[in-house]
Amino acid sequence: MEQLLDGLHTRWLGRPFAHFEELSSTNDYLKENARALPHGAAVTADHQTAGRGRSGKAWQEGARDGLALSVLLKPPSVHHTQLLPLVCALAVKSALYRLSIPGAGIKWPNDIVVNGKKVCGILCEGVVSGQEAYAVCGMGINVMQDASTFAARALPFATSLYAESGRRYEIDKVAAAVLDALERYYDRLLDAGFDALCDEYMNSCVTIDKEVRVIQNGAVREGRAVGLARSGALLVTLDGVLTEINAGEASVRGLYGYV
Ligand code: BTN
Repeated sequence: MEQLLDGLHTRWLGRPFAHFEELSSTNDYLKENARALPHGAAVTADHQTAGRGRSGKAWQEGARDGLALSVLLKPPSVHHTQLLPLVCALAVKSALYRLSIPGAGIKWPNDIVVNGKKVCGILCEGVVSGQEAYAVCGMGINVMQDASTFAARALPFATSLYAESGRRYEIDKVAAAVLDALERYYDRLLDAGFDALCDEYMNSCVTIDKEVRVIQNGAVREGRAVGLARSGALLVTLDGVLTEINAGEASVRGLYGYV
């Protein structure tokens, strides 16, 4: 892992960095090598043969039309680890803003949406190795697909940077922008805690102040998302009761579309 990513301005994130033409999954690569690699190691792949999404779903992209990026993080506590999905989402949203996609929002906990459609999915996974616990955060960003690609795959709620902006982006530049932003947000999380990021997250979150459907353990309930707990849980009023919904335990959808 000794390659350099062009345009990267970080101190520690993406150092080392490796790019592969093909991997089963960038998350799996870092999980398998987590012990040997340092905090901040990052990998990308042109093509994943077994890219994974949340809830066991597959994540597909064609060769070099999307970004598959994973980072290895070794946070000091479980509390920090559980906030990583939200921190990654803030970082991707901020990177997209810098890449001139100003209207991106966060669908809780960590999908990035533009005009009500998903442009990025994030999968953060824990790795336990002996006494050590690490995190691997994988980000899949649709970059160059045109709208017909998603229509052909029956994905009405998916979009790409190109489909939204008409601009062609270099995948490596998108990767560098995400890593630059993620280093800033991760350092702030450790220096000042999630309190320092919470307002920005709430302002970016398209789920809050919406009617939502919560699917948990097979049960479907409807309510209103009203805020965020300091743990990153979504606060939803369900049958008049303020309820904390933890990421990973439930899926939340808007009542009138994807968000
Ligand atoms: C989701 O379901 O929305 C999460 C998708 C996460 C996809 C990314 S692509 C890079 C990394 N490698 C994987 O196998 N998954 C994540």
